[in-house]
Amino acid sequence: MKTKPIIAGNWKMHKTLTDGISFVGKIRNRILDKEKVKVIFCPPFNLLFSIVDALDGTSFGVGAQNAHHESQGAFTGEISVEMLKSMGVQYVIIGHSERRHIFGETDGWINQKIHAVFNGELIPIFCIGETLEDRQMNRTNEIIHHQIKLGLEGVETIDSERLIIAYEPVWAIGTGETASNDQVEEAHGYVKTILDDMFGHSSGEIPILYGGSVNENNAAELIQTEGVDGFLIGGASLKEDSFCSIIAQVTNYNKG
Ligand code: 13P
Repeated sequence: MKTKPIIAGNWKMHKTLTDGISFVGKIRNRILDKEKVKVIFCPPFNLLFSIVDALDGTSFGVGAQNAHHESQGAFTGEISVEMLKSMGVQYVIIGHSERRHIFGETDGWINQKIHAVFNGELIPIFCIGETLEDRQMNRTNEIIHHQIKLGLEGVETIDSERLIIAYEPVWAIGTGETASNDQVEEAHGYVKTILDDMFGHSSGEIPILYGGSVNENNAAELIQTEGVDGFLIGGASLKEDSFCSIIAQVTNYNKG
């Protein structure tokens, strides 16, 4: 692993304000080895300001789960990168499979959002991944290639401090079915190849996270998989013991 491992918790549409603040407070007290792992919380929009405040002075990061590509305007229900930045948010998940499949986000729209996040000097956690049908039809590489190429179209250079990629096979999200080590290694290797082709040498350092039913029982094995630089976690990031256990396992591996 070339970079410090990253553990990002995507809360999706979970936790009230009180629950969220109490949760990060507990994690903050339990995680002592922060310098070995970068931990990022991605709560719903309405909690962002308070969570940033609750984590003030710590090395924990805070990310949003989406952003609109325009900086302002008549877009009811949306939020801009500028607004997120003004709250102290550092990361934005872009192109999550739930945004793509439930809310109809296209690669072109995702590309606009990626540019907006770069322009606003926040860090995108850019999600890609194939559906079960894609995999069964042996189209995994084609889909990943397509999503990265279109998602990063018009981006001239990338920097490991400014971009995170998350490989999340759609069939592994929230299903309890994790991709096998070989599947993860192959997909992450392919992502690196695409980035090398598009951006040359520096792309080798871009962190690539795995997401899809990561939990305390599979984290140790997954983090040792070639090409895995951390995790984007849904369900298990909502539970204090599970999330802390995953962080501890990644920390211990990183020490070795
Ligand atoms: P689960 O960890 O619940 O499978 O969710 C993964 C995910 O979608 C993170 O963005």
